[in-house]
Amino acid sequence: MNPAIRHVYVHFPYCLHRCGYCDFATTVARVIPRERYLQHILAELELRAQSLHFAPLETVFFGGGTPSLWGPAAIGAVLAWLNRRAGFAQDPEITLEANPGALESGDLAAYAAAGITRVSVGIQALQDSRLRALDRLHDAASAHQTLAQLGDLLASGRLKSANADLIFGVPGQTLLDLRADVAGILAYGLSHLSAYSLTVEAGTPLAAQVRRGQALRPDDDLQATMLDALPGLLAPFGLARYEVSNYARPGHASRHNLAYWTGRYYLAVGVGAHGFVPQPGALGLRYGNSRKHEAWQRALAQQQLSEDLRETIDAGQHQDERLLTGLRLTAGLDLAAFAVDLGDARRQALQLRAQPAIDRGDLWLHDEHLGVVPHALARLDSLIAELA
Ligand SMILES: C[S@@+](CC[C@H](N)C(=O)[O-])C[C@H]1O[C@@H](n2cnc3c(N)ncnc32)[C@H](O)[C@@H]1O
Ligand code: SF4
Repeated sequence: MNPAIRHVYVHFPYCLHRCGYCDFATTVARVIPRERYLQHILAELELRAQSLHFAPLETVFFGGGTPSLWGPAAIGAVLAWLNRRAGFAQDPEITLEANPGALESGDLAAYAAAGITRVSVGIQALQDSRLRALDRLHDAASAHQTLAQLGDLLASGRLKSANADLIFGVPGQTLLDLRADVAGILAYGLSHLSAYSLTVEAGTPLAAQVRRGQALRPDDDLQATMLDALPGLLAPFGLARYEVSNYARPGHASRHNLAYWTGRYYLAVGVGAHGFVPQPGALGLRYGNSRKHEAWQRALAQQQLSEDLRETIDAGQHQDERLLTGLRLTAGLDLAAFAVDLGDARRQALQLRAQPAIDRGDLWLHDEHLGVVPHALARLDSLIAELA
């Protein structure tokens, strides 16, 4: 694989409130140490960059947590560092995750002026009762305000793309509610939608409520019905599915997420961030920074890293990861790229293992791509196990 790094993820691990369903690496802070966190991010970039080779960057993703709480100056400082050290390719995609509401989204126009080209906003729902059930801080009115701002920034060309995250399959939600959410969001001209079924993650307040009978467990059948309905609900707005949970207008698929799903290397920095970088003598190295702020900061103060995960990835493991993410893409797994990265023998062996599922009509093979037939998406995990 080409060892040059073209993609960077920066994690911002602070939120104003922890939503009951969320198990991401994030901390609720009354006063967010914006400047101190920036200095530690720059220190980690310096340290990790010593052993990396960069190509002009194609994508940068500021994820969280709530990175729209960091401020445009900090985002601009990280981008300036990346520009000095690696430079940017023509027309880079630089995404900022934001939460709705003036308090949490900050000044989106100032973020665009600092270099952000794409905003991904966590709308989740457009009904107050469901936002409360999801334990979100924002209400429907502030969701509409932020969407209107995004619509203006897109229309004036200050942003190139905008995404909204949506959670579906919340107990009590109907198909009509989902249709209203989709139509309400896309009325503002957004180019991308990510729709995730509500998952009860172990250890979250939601999991405890479900256990105690204070909240209902999401219904698998209803979630499957909604997943099936989404392409039809989004088609009138010009968005098509390109990954199981992601829909875009032509030319607006997330290039950063596609880099993950097609097995590219990426540098990741920040508390709890996970990266995948070249490793001499192996296919790559997957690492995960400590989720503990203190440990991560203390190590950096001594020019060291504090990691919870450090795993050398061999060709077999990388093949499994490529199947896992590639088969979720509507365009399927690119077998030519697979052979370039992992060798033609592995590609031929994979095609042989895939043949029974192709014959059954669960997988398709076309134009050097291997994909899952839509009706078999619900059985994706067992199909992947059959191919691994
Ligand atoms: C970690 S959040 C970060 C973005 C931002 N802070 C927000 O909340 O919108 C990324 C997205 O993951 C999704 N997500 C997180 N936990 C989830 C869960 N348990 N079930 C379904 N979706 C979830 C939400 O749609 C959320 O927007
Ligand atoms: S705002 Fe986003 S990252 Fe923060 S707790 Fe809620 S879902 Fe998780």
